[in-house]
Amino acid sequence: MEHMPGEEWTTDEQRVRRYLKRAGEFAHRAEGESVLLEHVPRDARRVLDLGTGDGRLLALLQVDRQEMHGVGVDFSELMLAAARKRFAGEERVELVRHDLGKSLPVLGRFDAVVSSFAIHHLEHERKQSLYAEVFELLEPGGVFANFEHVASPSHRLHLAFFAAIEEPIENEDPSDRLLDVETQLDWLRTIGFEDVDCYWKWLEMALLIGVKPPAL
Ligand SMILES: C[S@@+](CC[C@H](N)C(=O)[O-])C[C@H]1O[C@@H](n2cnc3c(N)ncnc32)[C@H](O)[C@@H]1O
Repeated sequence: MEHMPGEEWTTDEQRVRRYLKRAGEFAHRAEGESVLLEHVPRDARRVLDLGTGDGRLLALLQVDRQEMHGVGVDFSELMLAAARKRFAGEERVELVRHDLGKSLPVLGRFDAVVSSFAIHHLEHERKQSLYAEVFELLEPGGVFANFEHVASPSHRLHLAFFAAIEEPIENEDPSDRLLDVETQLDWLRTIGFEDVDCYWKWLEMALLIGVKPPAL
């Protein structure tokens, strides 16, 4: 049977539990997240999180954005169950089950679209088309911030990253489709984003940001 990238997240309860247990502990993660939080405007009212998992990023964004309405998309019922638990009784968050390998459903427009360690599970072609869909979903002046697991320039550095996060290389996610930063930044520029750059990076963790030009 053909392997769907990322399908472990929908079926492998142990993998999901193990990730969620460690999610807050990865070396340097909080640094990258704090730079992301700085670049999502405090007055953002609608924020979309692609591959939201248990809603970690939406919860971090909510802290300083009391008016924010968050939409979290993920295809894993295991993850969405954890997100529902986190946001129980919370009306400011909507959770949508959807496979990002397919075009996004109608979700409305957003002041910011964010993602954290999720888009690297998609095939490269789909990453690129998803970035174009994100551009269309954003309001003029809206921000796209993708905190991502990216490719190393060499196998030696790839091994060094796994050693640095204290993860045995044998545990590497078979659904990872890692891609270098430069290619992704080029795509964002070609799509029409402005101020495109890698705003933070440590080994294979990188924060890629682009801004949709404001309306003239
Ligand atoms: C490493 S976890 C990150 C979760 C969360 N964003 C975080 O930062 O903790 C990757 C997430 O991407 C989701 N994911 C992977 N492939 C996906 C796809 N094709 N469609 C929707 N979600 C996907 C997984 O279900 C999982 O929740």
